[in-house]
Amino acid sequence: MEIPVDLLNGIEEESSKIPINKLISLVSDISNRYRNTDDKHISSYEEAIAYISYRMPATFAAIYAVLKDVKEICGDDINPKSILDVGAGPGTAMWAATSIWNGMDKITLLEKNKNMIKIGKKLSSNSNNSSIKNSIWIEADLENLPILPKHDMVIASYSIGEMNEISQHDALKKLWEAANNVLIIIEPGTKSAFSQIKKLRDILISCGGYIIAPCPHANECPINDNDWCHFSSRVQRTSIHRKVKNGQLSYEDGKFSYICVSKKPCKTIKSRIIRHPQIRKGHIILDLCTKDGIKKFTVKKSDGDIYKKARNSKWGSVFE
Ligand SMILES: C[S@@+](CC[C@H](N)C(=O)[O-])C[C@H]1O[C@@H](n2cnc3c(N)ncnc32)[C@H](O)[C@@H]1O
Repeated sequence: MEIPVDLLNGIEEESSKIPINKLISLVSDISNRYRNTDDKHISSYEEAIAYISYRMPATFAAIYAVLKDVKEICGDDINPKSILDVGAGPGTAMWAATSIWNGMDKITLLEKNKNMIKIGKKLSSNSNNSSIKNSIWIEADLENLPILPKHDMVIASYSIGEMNEISQHDALKKLWEAANNVLIIIEPGTKSAFSQIKKLRDILISCGGYIIAPCPHANECPINDNDWCHFSSRVQRTSIHRKVKNGQLSYEDGKFSYICVSKKPCKTIKSRIIRHPQIRKGHIILDLCTKDGIKKFTVKKSDGDIYKKARNSKWGSVFE
């Protein structure tokens, strides 16, 4: 996964406008607020710059991983020409979607925060992609809009979890109605965010949705209440990211939970690996979510091709 160079350049350029010590302190304030309080409001343009410097690469990586999975499962059956990015922030989902699908006719970004829109427009203006450059930004609160404009694919990444449960369910109906075909919701890979995703999944199934990913079925989710279904995506840290997070590692692993649902019957997967494969001497143990629930599956070296496939698989991979 590579973050588009024009996006990286835009992030570096905007971040360089704030003295590094100030940027570090803004990043620390925002992460503490996000971690310890319900206050997720980005209250200045400088905070929006801090947000993109430390958070946008990781959310890009998670959204990219989800969209790549959708493309690998559905192939040409899903080829969105229009995208609605809800709670768009700096437009992360737009950048990820245009890295997966070419020739987007229309991209609309709905966002309630002026500072996020300002930084999002600034980054878009640096883009080499005409769909991004021509994107339409709408400043509005999803909760106050009775309906949303229809688009082939609707994505809400790390946004719907900022609402309370009742608002989330209202919002979900609007997002579902706005999707000509696919709705994707991505949230942090935490126990509480997963429990929200699980509830939204049930509602979407009851609305007649067909699950594309991550689940191989639309049966009741077999993950028990003490556990949570989540995945991980790795992103190389930029130099600014290393500075603001005082990071020693050259990469960051971001955890996420998600659900992708289609309005039309779609290809389904046989099973998905839901933990790191355990590689042992002569065999590999996989934890699989399957149509028949969660199963431990042991693949022996003597199993030939299937062993090779297991060796090349990782946590989150589809396993056929
Ligand atoms: C954590 S940021 C995520 C931004 C972006 N989607 C991403 O993945 O990087 C959440 C964004 O959702 C926006 N948001 C939250 N509730 C919203 C609402 N009711 N209407 C519009 N935007 C909303 C916030 O203003 C914020 O910019």
